[in-house]
Amino acid sequence: MPPTTTAPSGTGRGADPGATLERGLTVLRALAADPSARLGRSALTRTTGLARATVDRITATLIRMGYARPDGSDVQLAPRVLELGNAYLSAERVTDAMRPVVLDLAADLDESVSVCVPDGDGARFVLQCPRQRAMTPAFRVGDLLAVERCAPGALFAAGWDRRRWRAWRSAAAPGAFEARAATARGLGFAVDDQLTEPGLIAVSVPVPGPDGSAARTLNVVSHTSRHTAVELTAHALPRLRRTADALRTVLAGPGGGPPAADATGIRADVELRSAKGELGPDFLQSLARGLAVLRALDVPGGLTLSALAEKVGLARASARRPLLTLQRLGYVDAATDGRFVLLPRVLELGYATVPPLDYEQLVRPHLAALALRLNDSASSAVLDGSDIRYVARVGARRIMSVDLGVGTRLPAYATAMGRVLLGDLERDARTLRLEQMAPRSLTPHTRTSPAAVVDAARRDGYALVDEELEEGLRSIALPVRDAGGRAVAAVNISAHAVQRSAADLRDRVLPELRSAVRHIEADLAAAAGRDPQSLPA
Ligand code: PHB
Repeated sequence: MPPTTTAPSGTGRGADPGATLERGLTVLRALAADPSARLGRSALTRTTGLARATVDRITATLIRMGYARPDGSDVQLAPRVLELGNAYLSAERVTDAMRPVVLDLAADLDESVSVCVPDGDGARFVLQCPRQRAMTPAFRVGDLLAVERCAPGALFAAGWDRRRWRAWRSAAAPGAFEARAATARGLGFAVDDQLTEPGLIAVSVPVPGPDGSAARTLNVVSHTSRHTAVELTAHALPRLRRTADALRTVLAGPGGGPPAADATGIRADVELRSAKGELGPDFLQSLARGLAVLRALDVPGGLTLSALAEKVGLARASARRPLLTLQRLGYVDAATDGRFVLLPRVLELGYATVPPLDYEQLVRPHLAALALRLNDSASSAVLDGSDIRYVARVGARRIMSVDLGVGTRLPAYATAMGRVLLGDLERDARTLRLEQMAPRSLTPHTRTSPAAVVDAARRDGYALVDEELEEGLRSIALPVRDAGGRAVAAVNISAHAVQRSAADLRDRVLPELRSAVRHIEADLAAAAGRDPQSLPA
């Protein structure tokens, strides 16, 4: 029998770490390219051309990192993958510096406004400030338009030299695009009269970078049902230009504060060693390190190799390897001052395809996993006046499971979730809220002086309620915090007293609850970076 050959796509022991990172990114891109950000494992094997065993180890690693989750035999990108794109956007100062300025322009013009950056032969959206209309732009942050098919592309190509033009390959009408680029250079703006889509019109102006080239474009976009391209230009051009100047000034100024992404912690060494211990050889450390390096470069101006190595907790040589792979693949660039910076291609790793989720959709898979592991009911609630209100719940498959639906309200003082949420309020707000309550003895065990139990929850960081709401019912809860550290919801496990002792809840359930909350918080921080509606209402 001929010897079986090892697939060249192996990620086994001794595999080149750069190749492993590259294959991991291939899998991420394949998932991101699917409109639902989900693929079956066989489809994933087919589209990437990788060996099935390789795909399995890569997906196991992505799942362990919280970037994907299994769904039957499918694998789906999880909201946490958005932290990669968020790192790029925070380095580009999109949210802190650009967004307020661009939002003002959108309100002033009463039209949708966006920002694009050049990315190879495309223009990539880094900011969208849409006006809510029947016909709002179809493009999302992270989407890429071919340069020859949009207004920003003509402005980017206006600065191309002959070599760059030669490198550009387009099947359709190169002469027409060259002419549009020349016009854009002469006029200092470009128009898209239904190049991207029938009915869609746009006008773009350049926002020069420090070297004077069009580092970004500022675009106003409308519809032929509202304006002609000529009218839109007349209406918007002066204000577009003023705003482009303002953006240039803002971006030349000092960077903002520390990026919110730091809240999830990047120390790759600690995090990754424990993951390796759990998954053994199936955990691809070089993929995890590469993604940790990407996330760590979320700083305006980038980082030197030493600063990066220190931030991720790796030796310089261990940080350099993924950096070189990422540079070769077009996700990272080395600036002239020796710093490494993220490139807009990072946004192709799922930023435009992971669907926007509200809090219930975001928290539900975590509650389901917790309920399945513990065989108890898992819920999440928010504080609403003197009550808590359930926003998500996954019941245990026990015969006697505790039955409370979404929307149920319960008195905050007598519930574990209520106590951790009250405990997080500022002192004055807490005092006021407690004064408005009228605690009653709901069972012989109810503690009716809520200040003391709320203080205890605040001190301990969790709350345990032992047959105080209802006889025979115990519950333990933790707060869920946003990137700023504010408790925006709580998560609990509830169980019948005969099934779980208080000690059992504290010793066995609490660690599981903590781990679930860490994952929820990471998803929430990543999702809220793009979609504020993922925070609980
Ligand atoms: C948009 O913001 O959706 C947009 C911008 C420029 C274009 C087309 C669409 O050329």
